[in-house]
Amino acid sequence: MEIKESDLKVLFTEEQIQAKIKELAVEMNKFYNGEEVYAICVLKGAVMFAVDLVKHLNMPLKMEFIRLSSYGTGMTTTGKVNAVDISLPDLNGKNVLIIEDIVDTGLTAKFLMDFMHCNFKTKSTKFCSLLDKKITRKVDIEPDYYGFEIDDKFLVGYGLDYEGYYRNLRYIGYVDKN
Ligand code: IMP
Repeated sequence: MEIKESDLKVLFTEEQIQAKIKELAVEMNKFYNGEEVYAICVLKGAVMFAVDLVKHLNMPLKMEFIRLSSYGTGMTTTGKVNAVDISLPDLNGKNVLIIEDIVDTGLTAKFLMDFMHCNFKTKSTKFCSLLDKKITRKVDIEPDYYGFEIDDKFLVGYGLDYEGYYRNLRYIGYVDKN
């Protein structure tokens, strides 16, 4: 299916997204209370969210980037998480904050939490996602922080893509063909 920008309906505006990010940052600043954090951005989808979120975090912070993929192309997940590039520094004893765009089946989140637990004895590992599609969950996992709970809609914009397009939109939209 081809998606044109005129088929998109706005679900969250730029203002709503930025306001939510500030709220999340307030919670995180309180939790970490000035302790150092390693913020791990899951490429490519979380890039916009991670970059905007860390600007509001007030503790000493290092950013790392890892690259996973589960949506081959199009609008359905492959059901298999591929670690495209997951090279990380030594995170033993560190506070780790994983930053994702959306939790859908939960497979990616589970993969990452298991990866952290198998490879490091962190001080804390928290999972943060801007969006949470709770009703499509296939594995038992909940993000520690999330911005918006959403229905089972295919979303694009603000990092989320359809076949690589629309990541650059400042809003989050869904496909409405009616
Ligand atoms: P999960 O492993 O099924 O939870 O899916 C996580 C990944 O699937 C996210 O990081 C996204 O890259 C992708 N994804 C899930 N839902 C959507 C969507 O509605 N639009 C675009 N990408 C999505």
